[in-house]
Amino acid sequence: MLQLEGKHILVTGASSGMGRVFCQMIAKEGARVSLLARNEDRLKETLALMGGEGHKYYICDLTDEEQLKATVSTLEALDGVVFCAGINDFVPLKFVKQEKLERIFQTNYFSQVILTQMLVKKKLIKRNASLVYISSLSSKLGVAGTLLYASSKAALNSAVRVIATEMAPLGIRANAICPGIVQTEMLGSTNIDEESFTKQAVDYPLGLGTPEDVGNAVLYHLSDGSRWLTGNCMVIDGGYSLK
Ligand SMILES: NC(=O)c1ccc[n+]([C@@H]2O[C@H](COP(=O)([O-])OP(=O)(O)OC[C@H]3O[C@@H](n4cnc5c(N)ncnc54)[C@H](OP(=O)(O)O)[C@@H]3O)[C@@H](O)[C@H]2O)c1
Repeated sequence: MLQLEGKHILVTGASSGMGRVFCQMIAKEGARVSLLARNEDRLKETLALMGGEGHKYYICDLTDEEQLKATVSTLEALDGVVFCAGINDFVPLKFVKQEKLERIFQTNYFSQVILTQMLVKKKLIKRNASLVYISSLSSKLGVAGTLLYASSKAALNSAVRVIATEMAPLGIRANAICPGIVQTEMLGSTNIDEESFTKQAVDYPLGLGTPEDVGNAVLYHLSDGSRWLTGNCMVIDGGYSLK
């Protein structure tokens, strides 16, 4: 039996990395997927990789409230949302600027909260739906240079717990997933060199993760098998936190 048969799932950050793989995995489990990101060509590439039918894509900059409103107004009711869009920026404290703080919080925190609120207000989240927020292991650590990113994801973890409490009367669940390092395009966009990654991989007893490793956790969160799980933050890191 397919885990997500008949469900309609929105995936943000669907044009790249983990979001792209999640769309493929969710479609394979029988769900209809609405894909959201800014880059139309890359959204189409994701769509071309997916099986199943009825999928749609939405070009939307999550940090632009007008675009977000317009997108939400055309969405159909949802059984689940994967909030996967995110950006990273490695900056030591002494180089942190207000503008950089605002940029990362706009994408990784404000837009996640605003999108959730819009979907709830428009009654687009069905009873018993599942909201899955892709946070990061960084939110729980204190690695040098990750202040912007780690704190934006820590704020998200906190929001997820409150959302879980407020949504529980409707049977709607909200959970965060905190992956360790996963090899995606995001890593290419950072200023961390190949050598540093090779060094970091040594600290992962099970090696670095793949988008599919996180995708399996996402499928569980979206499925009815996790109906009693809410307000949780699942660390999935190949054993990195064991040290
Ligand atoms: N890779 C890792 O090691 C790792 C570890 C832990 C957590 N994470 C988290 O996992 C999520 C996915 O990461 P990834 O590695 O797959 O990154 P990625 O390949 O860089 O993908 C990021 C996605 O977010 C979308 N996006 C960014 N800004 C957006 C905006 N303003 N509006 C709409 N969409 C936007 C991008 O699409 P467009 O450019 O087309 O808009 C893209 O589809 C992120 O939240 C990240 O923080 C990643």
